[in-house]
Amino acid sequence: MDYVTALKILVIGESGVGKSSIILAFTTGDYNASFPATIGVDYKCKIMEVNGVKVKLGIWDTAGQERYRTLTSSFYREAHGAILVYDVSDPKSLAKLKEWVEELQVYSTKKNIVCLVVGNKIDKARQVTREAGQDFAQKHRMLFIESSAKTQEGINLAFEELVQKIIETPGLWESSPSSNIRVGSDERRQQESSCYDYTCTI
Ligand code: GTP
Ligand code: MG
Repeated sequence: MDYVTALKILVIGESGVGKSSIILAFTTGDYNASFPATIGVDYKCKIMEVNGVKVKLGIWDTAGQERYRTLTSSFYREAHGAILVYDVSDPKSLAKLKEWVEELQVYSTKKNIVCLVVGNKIDKARQVTREAGQDFAQKHRMLFIESSAKTQEGINLAFEELVQKIIETPGLWESSPSSNIRVGSDERRQQESSCYDYTCTI
């Protein structure tokens, strides 16, 4: 019998850096050049296999714009991983990322949450060096990758690296109440409908 581990992943960062576009690229392979700003919180789901472990990712996307943000503490609660996005064509978006790190520190309930810094929009003229992004990530003990939601470069790798690190982190996911759901059983269907009442891309 297959087992699926359910993980909660957050995507945070300033408005317009491409959070929703990264999630769209990862879950559907699509790109929208005029993606609307996120209002409140969005959710997408995808099943992937890492190190022989089948993982059901619940990916939570929030509004970068302050006025569209709601329910901060429930957004962060019980998250296993966080993707912190900046735009390599906008230096301000990297400078602002430290405020998102502070918010993550205040609200995240799992102290060993795995974090990945993503420098997005590498298809555009770069205003932030790769080293500057890497330094930021290293300083905060986070993983680092660059991507383009437009060309798909780095998108799958970002999620694979994050999930792999979560799976390798002792005590982070095994104790989760939503872990080890039996695929195909009534138990799974019951747990899924109560935890995640959304469409899921497999
Ligand atoms: P909020 O929802 O307001 O927080 O913004 P967001 O971070 O979700 O940004 P979103 O995904 O909506 O992208 C903002 C704009 O940047 C959209 O017009 C996207 O098409 C564009 N965009 C996103 N990723 C890329 C990329 O990798 N390259 C380029 N050139 N444009 C991108
Ligand atoms: Mg968005």
